[in-house]
Amino acid sequence: MKKTIKEILALEEGAEVVATGWVRTKRDSKNVVFISVGDGTCFDALQVVVDKEGFADIETIEAMNTGASCQFEGVLQKSLGKNQSVELLAKSCRMFCNADDSYPLQKKHQTFEFLREKLHLRGRTNTFGAVMRVRSILAYAIHRFFQEKGFFYLNTPLVTTSDCEGAGEMFEVTTLNLANPPKTKDGGVDFSKDFFSKRAFLTVSGQLEGESYATAIRNIYTFGPTFRAEKSSTTRHLAEFWMVEPEMAFYDLNDNADLAEEFLKYIFKYVLDNDPRDMEFFDKFILEGVVDTIRHVIEKPFVRMTYTQAIKELEKNNKSFEYPVKWGSDIQTEHERYISETVCKAPVILTDYPKEIKSFYMKANDDGKTVRAMDVLVPRLGEIIGGSEREEDYGKLLAKIREMGLNESEYEWYLDLRKFGSVPHAGFGLGFERAILYLTGMQNIRDVIAYPRFWKSEKK
Ligand code: 4AD
Ligand code: MG
Repeated sequence: MKKTIKEILALEEGAEVVATGWVRTKRDSKNVVFISVGDGTCFDALQVVVDKEGFADIETIEAMNTGASCQFEGVLQKSLGKNQSVELLAKSCRMFCNADDSYPLQKKHQTFEFLREKLHLRGRTNTFGAVMRVRSILAYAIHRFFQEKGFFYLNTPLVTTSDCEGAGEMFEVTTLNLANPPKTKDGGVDFSKDFFSKRAFLTVSGQLEGESYATAIRNIYTFGPTFRAEKSSTTRHLAEFWMVEPEMAFYDLNDNADLAEEFLKYIFKYVLDNDPRDMEFFDKFILEGVVDTIRHVIEKPFVRMTYTQAIKELEKNNKSFEYPVKWGSDIQTEHERYISETVCKAPVILTDYPKEIKSFYMKANDDGKTVRAMDVLVPRLGEIIGGSEREEDYGKLLAKIREMGLNESEYEWYLDLRKFGSVPHAGFGLGFERAILYLTGMQNIRDVIAYPRFWKSEKK
């Protein structure tokens, strides 16, 4: 197999190598040309040195522009430059394809807004290369964490008929002719003629199906795309995002919170330990001090607090919020951040929210007012994880489904789990892109996924 730039940079001087990649920069001096060649396998590029005198194919070198794909053969030598230990003294070269002046990623700095118009090319920049490497390593860390604990990786369906969060924010999947759909006798759309003979949607969460397998093989996790037709155009919301959802039989809310804390610490530490170079870049150029904040998260215990306690803290500061709160209010990002940044100065696990602002499947507390919900809030971002202990009592769950006006027949199978060998169980969901935002210090969630899909998104 051909060696990558990452592999070449790890070799000793004297090694004969063939290096391939794309020209990042080219610097011409009197006797030599310096070409920085990167292939995205690591943050650093390989410095290629071409000695003009006696180099057979100097015309190719002269023609080579930023962005050109190329190959160099030669010997590694000790580098005098301070940025790298070895460089390649080229003996021969090949250009696969040049890039002309219209190549958008010339040397000058481009804004993230500009790069969002060039989604197909932005992966070649330092920042987006680093984001995608961190994303991949974080995904691996997630699998490692759960696999080491004996959890099973479950793939839940993307097309579904049930609304897990009950919030009605689903994209409909249909093959009906929208210009002229078949009609029922009373004039409505006849979905029995649709592909699945009934209405279907893209999933907002794999949790409900996850529960069915947690009550079969005990501990599972899902990790896949989820879709929300939320009309919110914020820097923390996507219409298509990836979620990690563990679900554990015989777990209560405390067990769930313990697992969430251990999980976040493990995956963040894994990235710091295994990708220090990219993290150093984020620390220097994207958000100063981000690595220290992550270390802090890894080392310090998370604070645990009930919603009721948090409201008391927030009320003291109501004057400074855009949306003042009282008991029963939904907590917004500004409040989440205040609790974790100012009150606790650490990640916080908030529990026991009012039942009115949480989903139908959460276990009711004895007070009749709150449910066994938990959100993990982190400084700078707010909610990163949402979860709960699930209602395991058949009668209570059925009453809740009716109370919330959900279509009972769609949840029959889910109720069955409470009919046959029901157990206490719990789980949570981590927004994968939120975790990447937090780790890298990037500001906008659209910049931590290759092809962001969001409200009013018109571009590719
Ligand atoms: O809090 P949420 O809605 O919880 C659930 O979906 C549960 N079914 C999870 C479970 O208990 N298994 O979403 C979970 C997490 C949030 O904490 C947030 O990090 C992320 O998913 N998230 C989003 N990320 C990006 N864009 C969006 N529109 C998001 N909505 C939620
Ligand atoms: Mg939530």
